[in-house]
Amino acid sequence: MGLYAIGDLHLHYQSVLRAPGQLHGRVWKKHEEKFRKNCGKLMTEDDTLVLVGDHSWGKKLSECEQDLQYISDLPGRKILTRGNHDMFWDVKKTGQLNELYRPCLTFLQDSYEVYQDYALVGTKGFTFEGPFYISRSMEGNPSAGVPVADGRGRIIGWDEEAEIHAKKLVDRELARLRKSFELAKSDGYRKFIMFLHYPPTNILEERSGFTDMAEEYGAEQVVYAHCHGESRFHDSIQGEFRGRVYHLVSGDYLRWKPLKILA
Ligand SMILES: [Fe+2]
Ligand SMILES: [Fe+2]
Repeated sequence: MGLYAIGDLHLHYQSVLRAPGQLHGRVWKKHEEKFRKNCGKLMTEDDTLVLVGDHSWGKKLSECEQDLQYISDLPGRKILTRGNHDMFWDVKKTGQLNELYRPCLTFLQDSYEVYQDYALVGTKGFTFEGPFYISRSMEGNPSAGVPVADGRGRIIGWDEEAEIHAKKLVDRELARLRKSFELAKSDGYRKFIMFLHYPPTNILEERSGFTDMAEEYGAEQVVYAHCHGESRFHDSIQGEFRGRVYHLVSGDYLRWKPLKILA
């Protein structure tokens, strides 16, 4: 029995890719076959798999049916959380999705699921992703406190209006996440694993409302995806940080092997 996680499958059995550049490269070649094979090797029907968003490129549910069928056919229990590309999943219609796909899939939003004595809580999350203005020049004072974008130059500014808008989205997602924690807590759960689609911090932040909430409720592990493509693998926290363990589980980062979160 194990709890596994992965994100960013970006399936497209019925839909035309909208960002084909993102899916180029060897790691994406027949990635759905690699993932299915790895799940078959690693998982059994007793296991639980949490898929943390960007499941499908389809815009409407009718364009995602084969992608969701592919996920249903994977071994074990499957719990899905929302990603920024999951246009088929309107938060307000989560109940309808659950009705439609029960017992094969569980769509987790404003709620929680149970694994052993843990409550699995989650939401899409949000981080401000720029645009950042980068200086490729390595001149200047490196100790000026301006973050360095790994191998991509120094960040010398960013779109402040976009940042203000992002803060509103962050607040909305934090409220959804708190609802999830509070429901579990009022039902007596004291052990939590927290799932996000977006990373818990952006490249400017050391902490965020999401890391603070993980600490407030004592989430033992924080699992996120969204950062795919090698240049983005280190955009946020990985490993132990202030008493929690953070995992990036985007599919290409994991090379399509779901990560075991709990035995
Ligand atoms: Fe993605
Ligand atoms: Fe994403």
